[in-house]
Amino acid sequence: MEFFLVNKRSLPNMAPDRPLITAALAFAVLLGLLLMATRPPGLLTADSAQSTDELSGSEQEEALPPAEGGPGGQTVVDPGAVAGLQEEKLSYDGPVDTSVTYPVLPNADPLTEYLERELSAEVAAFEDADHGADSYEADWNLTAARQGLVGVRIAATESGSGGERERFSTYWYDTEQGQVYGSTHLFDDQEALTALDTLAREEVGEDADTSGMYPISALYDSIGFGPDGDLVVEFDAGQVAPAAQDRMHAVLDHSEIEPLLSDLGTRAHEAATVGVDTFEIAEAPDTAGDDPLGTAPGTISPDDDSVDCTDTETTCVALTFDDGPGGGTPQLLDTLDEHDARATFFVTGHPVQEHPETLRRAYAEGHEIANHTLNHPDLTSIGAGDATMDLSSTQALVLRETGYEMDLMRPPYGATDGGVATVTQDMGLAQILWSVDTNDWRHRDADKVADTALDGADDGAIILMHDIHSTTITAAEEIVRELESSGVEMVTVTQLLGSTEPGESYMDGVPDPEEGDEENADEGADASDG
Ligand code: NI
Repeated sequence: MEFFLVNKRSLPNMAPDRPLITAALAFAVLLGLLLMATRPPGLLTADSAQSTDELSGSEQEEALPPAEGGPGGQTVVDPGAVAGLQEEKLSYDGPVDTSVTYPVLPNADPLTEYLERELSAEVAAFEDADHGADSYEADWNLTAARQGLVGVRIAATESGSGGERERFSTYWYDTEQGQVYGSTHLFDDQEALTALDTLAREEVGEDADTSGMYPISALYDSIGFGPDGDLVVEFDAGQVAPAAQDRMHAVLDHSEIEPLLSDLGTRAHEAATVGVDTFEIAEAPDTAGDDPLGTAPGTISPDDDSVDCTDTETTCVALTFDDGPGGGTPQLLDTLDEHDARATFFVTGHPVQEHPETLRRAYAEGHEIANHTLNHPDLTSIGAGDATMDLSSTQALVLRETGYEMDLMRPPYGATDGGVATVTQDMGLAQILWSVDTNDWRHRDADKVADTALDGADDGAIILMHDIHSTTITAAEEIVRELESSGVEMVTVTQLLGSTEPGESYMDGVPDPEEGDEENADEGADASDG
C-alpha cells in the first residue's frame, strides 16, 4: 500500500459495526425510514458495510464519516482531508481568455501532467472549433480519495459564438499505477457501456433529446457516484438537450448498474460512498508498466480484425461519402447497418455542426470519420496557414463530438500539391483520393450512380460518393445489397489500406509500384467535385 488511510472520527450512528451487520441492517432500516425524506433509501445497505471490508483490522474498528455531496450530484471530498493538496492555474498561450484550475497532489505527477495536457487540449479544441471563442473557465473538485483511487471532476464553462456552455469531465487516477482513466473505464466493456446508454436514455426521459445519445466516450466522459452509491452521469450542455437547458444528468440506482461495472468502477463506487478523514499518497507511483486497462469503452476504432483485406481470397472495397453528414445520412446508416457494411465519411465542418447526432451515430456504429475541411476550399490556392486552420477546425469539431482524432483527410476537388502534403503531414493526416468516381453530384441519377460504383468495385477500390444527395442515398441501397450478395467486404479506408503515412496520398488499396500516387492524384483532381 502506498497511502495511508486513517479514520480519526468515530460516528457509530452513521455506519454499521462489522461484527453486528445483522443488527446494524435492522437499525439501518429504521434509520432509513427516518432519512427517507432527505436521502434515497440504500444509504446504509450492505454496500456500505462491504466498503469497510478491505480495511485492516484496526481500521475496521472505527467507523468512517459519511460521504457528502449535493442531490443528484457526485460525492464531494473535503479538500482539507487530502494531505498536501494544492491548486494550479493552467497557463495557456492563446487568444481565448482562460481561467482554468486543477488539483495537484503530492506524489501524483502523472495525474498533474495528464490534467495539464488534457485541459490545454480542451481549450485548444474549443479555440479551433469555434472561431468566436471568447473565454474558457474551469474549476475542479475531488469526488473520491480513498484506497489508491482519486476521482477528479472538472466543470467548465466555455463562452463563444453559441453563447455559454457547461461541460463536465471526471477522471479516475490510480495512485499505485500512476494511470489516469476516463469515465468509461468504470464500465467493463463496450457492451456494458451500451447497456448504460440504454438505461441513461430512459432516465433522462422527456427533457432530453435522446436521438443524440450513443455509447461513446465523448458523451460518457463524466461519470461518478453520489454519496448514497447511485451512479451519476453528467452530460455537457447541448449534447442531449438544447444548450440553454439546465445541466442534464442521469442518476441510476447502483443495483441496476452493478453488473456492468469494471473493477475500477467497483473501486470508484466503494471510494465515493464513504467520507474521507485523511488521505495521503505516500509514494510516487511505479509507472514502469503499460496502461493495464487498454482501450476505453466508447472508443471505436475504424479498424478491427473482423476482415483481413490482405487475404487474396477476400475482396475489399471502401465506400466513401463526402461533404456530409446530410439529412439523408441516417437512412444511409440504416442501409449500411442492414447489410453489415462499413463506410468512411469525409465530413465538412458546417454539416457536422448541423447534424452532430448523425456524426456520433456514424462513429458509434464503426464507420470511419475523416477530415474534408471546414469550408471545402481548394487547399492548393489558400496557403499553408489557412489550410491548416481550415483542417484544424473540422479536426476539433469531430474530436469534441466523438472523442475521435481523425488521421485521414480528403482534399476538396482532389486538389493537392507539395504544400498540402506538408500541411497534412504536420497534422498527422494521410490524404485519401479515390479510384472510382461515381460523379453522383453531377448526374443525380440513382441507377447511374449504382452502375458506376458496382462496375468499379474491384478489390482495393475506393469509391467516391456524396451523402448529401438523395439519389446517392437511394443508389447506396442497391450498391450495398449487390456487393453483399457477391461476397464483397465493405470496409473502412483504414481497414482497406492498413496503416497510412501522414502527408502521403492514396487512391486505392491495390499495391502497384508502377502507378505513382501523385499521377493518380492529379487525375482525380481534374475529374471530380471531390
Ligand atoms: Ni467534397
